Amino acid sequence: MKLLKFFLLFSCCLKFALSLSSTAAPRAPAPIPKEKLLVVTVATEETDGFRRFMQSASYFNYTVKVLGMGEAWKGGDVGRSIGGGQKVRLLKEAMDALEVQEDLVVLSVDSYDLIFAGGPEELLRKFQQANHKVVFAAEGLVWPDKRLADKYPSVRSGKRYLNSGGIIGYAPYLKRLVSQWDLHDNDDDQLFYTKIYLDPLQRETLNMTLDHKCQIFQNLNAAVDDVLLKFGTDRVRVRNTLYDSLPVVVHGNGNTKMYLNYLGNYVPNAWNYEHGCGHCHDDVLDSSQLKEFPSVQVGVFIEQPSPFLPEFFQRLWDLDYPKDRIKLFVHNNVVYHEKHIQKFWQENRGAYSSFKVVGPEENLSQGDARNMGMDLCRKDAACDYYFSLDSDVMLTNQETLKLLVEQNRKIIGPLVTRHSKLWSNFWGALSLDGYYARSEDYVDIVQRKRIGVWNIPYMAHVYLIKGSALRAELKERNYFVLEKLDPDMAFCRNAREMTSHREKDSPSPESFHMLRPPKGMFMYLSNLHEFGRLVSAANYNTSHYNSDLWQIFENPVDWKEKYIHRNYTQIFTENFTEEPCPDVFWFPVLTEKACDELVEEMEHYGSWSGGKHQDKRISGGYETVPTDDIHMKQIGFDREWLHFIREFISPVTLKVFSGYYTKGYALMNFVVKYTPERQAYLRPHHDSSTFTINIALNNKDTDFQGGGCRFHRYNCSIESPRKGWSFMHPGRLTHLHEGLPTTNGTRYIAVSFIDP
Ligand SMILES: *[C@@H]1O[C@H](CO)[C@@H](O)[C@H](O)[C@H]1NC(C)=O
Ligand SMILES: *[C@@H]1O[C@H](CO)[C@@H](O)[C@H](O)[C@H]1NC(C)=O
Ligand SMILES: *[C@@H]1O[C@H](CO)[C@@H](O)[C@H](O)[C@H]1NC(C)=O
Ligand SMILES: *[C@@H]1O[C@H](CO)[C@@H](O)[C@H](O)[C@H]1NC(C)=O
Ligand SMILES: *[C@@H]1O[C@H](CO)[C@@H](O)[C@H](O)[C@H]1NC(C)=O
Ligand SMILES: *[C@@H]1O[C@H](CO)[C@@H](O)[C@H](O)[C@H]1NC(C)=O
Ligand SMILES: *[C@@H]1O[C@H](CO)[C@@H](O)[C@H](O)[C@H]1NC(C)=O
Ligand SMILES: *[C@@H]1O[C@H](CO)[C@@H](O)[C@H](O)[C@H]1NC(C)=O
Repeated sequence: MKLLKFFLLFSCCLKFALSLSSTAAPRAPAPIPKEKLLVVTVATEETDGFRRFMQSASYFNYTVKVLGMGEAWKGGDVGRSIGGGQKVRLLKEAMDALEVQEDLVVLSVDSYDLIFAGGPEELLRKFQQANHKVVFAAEGLVWPDKRLADKYPSVRSGKRYLNSGGIIGYAPYLKRLVSQWDLHDNDDDQLFYTKIYLDPLQRETLNMTLDHKCQIFQNLNAAVDDVLLKFGTDRVRVRNTLYDSLPVVVHGNGNTKMYLNYLGNYVPNAWNYEHGCGHCHDDVLDSSQLKEFPSVQVGVFIEQPSPFLPEFFQRLWDLDYPKDRIKLFVHNNVVYHEKHIQKFWQENRGAYSSFKVVGPEENLSQGDARNMGMDLCRKDAACDYYFSLDSDVMLTNQETLKLLVEQNRKIIGPLVTRHSKLWSNFWGALSLDGYYARSEDYVDIVQRKRIGVWNIPYMAHVYLIKGSALRAELKERNYFVLEKLDPDMAFCRNAREMTSHREKDSPSPESFHMLRPPKGMFMYLSNLHEFGRLVSAANYNTSHYNSDLWQIFENPVDWKEKYIHRNYTQIFTENFTEEPCPDVFWFPVLTEKACDELVEEMEHYGSWSGGKHQDKRISGGYETVPTDDIHMKQIGFDREWLHFIREFISPVTLKVFSGYYTKGYALMNFVVKYTPERQAYLRPHHDSSTFTINIALNNKDTDFQGGGCRFHRYNCSIESPRKGWSFMHPGRLTHLHEGLPTTNGTRYIAVSFIDP
């Protein structure tokens, strides 16, 4: 009872206190209901930027009235020269047509280069706080007439000059403002508003001000350093650190379009830490629902000697996409690769819908070749997509093409990176003066710590373009960075020169062709999946018969994939070794391809020693137990072979001779040839090694008969060597051994005497 009384008393006082405070201070105006807000924008085309604007508007439930759609743009080239009068004319017409209510608030904004970062309630609240009838966006640069700078009221802090990309005001005032327009469509809208604003009388009667401290409008021109992304749990905003504000609309005016694209990868809900990508699954195609897959023109460009080209073609073949929906165009600029293409063409040409090869004899420049490939799609109305693929791209994901098609964008590329490097096929940013810049998110995108579909400024090596875009926005031939004289090429070269000492991991544009979206078109990079990697074509010496063998240093991952036995790693996981004789271990190490290529390389070299005692190649010049062989050193392969021993043999030694650690020092590394016509066997001997490896390079029964190895101390023979498998046995003392006679055909083995 007492408690209730007290409560009543308290609530009464509270009421009293509240009414007291409301009379003491001016009553805060009632919030403007969001139904009283109308957003108008002028857009003559549905550009990618327009769609992004509408996406952000619909996220916040803004009602947007679009003016001018489908009309020809007559407002000039805004941003470079003056123009934009068409926008005022359209706004004027719209205001005239509107039944103007006193309390209607109109927000007039650009749309191609603008994103909403906050919702209608916040916008209206901030507009009310500005306490004016009309509020313009502000910026730090005076445009288009610098002479007007002095006429502006000075501000103690904040941006001083008017920007017409954003205006918010009560409808009657805005109407009076734009009713003064009597100029042409290509006259300047900003100049028009500026002159009115600078007239003190009009400024007062129309009750106008500028949003000096970016409460509502953030113009990015000359203000990129003022802003940061601010990640929240549901949405991402832009924070102005100069004025500590969270602007409601963000405008990429001037040359900040690329920066706005970067911000737009996050704001308002495009990507955040909690939910990841917000729009990656918008408008996607479900290929499982398609009656027929889109037709794809693939352009393959072999512009420079490319390691692992047969593997590249194998991966192209392995792409999970109906081959009868693929037309293939290959430009090969490298004579060395003609044998690889010939082979692929002979085996597979029938499978593809068409297959065209332009070889080095055509002497086609890279630019012409790329245009030719692109034109094949551009000029074929039935071509749905153009897929450009450079020969240094290893698409390890067979779904790549399908996944990109499903993403349903005009231009999209998969992220590919150099193994364990930050080098990739895209640029995250351009500095404002047009040079390569590393965006804040570049490393996270490359390392897939942020996963999504990213709007980026430059891309190369591999991308998919819609045929419809080639026939519309990209209908100009030579649009891409191609010719020597193209200014973009000079730009790229400059950029590379800048980057060579600054940015070791940035791609070098000179070594490939870069794709840049035309004005107003977005270009995307997906890292939603692992797609593949870039091989390094630098230091690729094609003077060998099978030059890929030499790539163990430059491209270790591809080398291992091509040359190391599939079951090699099981040695360590599942004891995948055998011990056919005491202390003789047997394990898989090389692929069939490695064996074949090594033998080919030796036969190509051809100078077999003949198994003579006199041997100039070794110190002392005398070999007691000579074999018919070629040393790795003779074909310039000793450095690579020793690296192979350290990388792939040493770990096995450590395991089977438990704890024996070898640094893989070996002077004698060679391939031996046994054949009844020359040398068929080797008499019992010790090796000058701590241990010896002996790898069979071909197959018993198919390639030769006989052969094998016998260890005397144990009366133990191994008569069925397996191709690609190695023996490992102690060299001296315990393991006196002999090479058993090869009775037919030719037997090859690779031998190393390790730790002599
Ligand atoms: C927009 O409207 C929908 C439906 O009324 C609502 O669920 C959603 O929360 C609104 N979005 C925002 C950002 O307020
Ligand atoms: C501008 O309008 C606000 C109310 O919207 C009013 O409080 C203020 O006095 C006006 N200023 C001028 C200079 O008329
Ligand atoms: C190939 O073309 C370049 C320029 O396009 C020319 O300088 C060169 O002589 C040509 N080579 C041959 C073999 O035709
Ligand atoms: C390429 O290899 C050959 C043969 O080993 C060698 O003579 C030549 O110097 C190498 N070229 C380069 C650029 O390394
Ligand atoms: C690897 O080992 C498995 C048995 O464990 C065998 O079936 C397979 O053929 C081997 N792969 C190769 C390439 O020899
Ligand atoms: C491998 O062999 C060792 C010794 O013979 C044994 O201790 C170990 O459990 C084996 N590992 C596997 C995976 O079989
Ligand atoms: C060696 O083994 C073979 C059979 O594997 C046998 O016939 C022969 O007698 C053995 N020799 C010695 C010396 O033990
Ligand atoms: C030797 O090999 C060839 C084919 O490689 C075969 O035709 C021939 O019969 C073999 N000779 C003997 C004696 O096995």
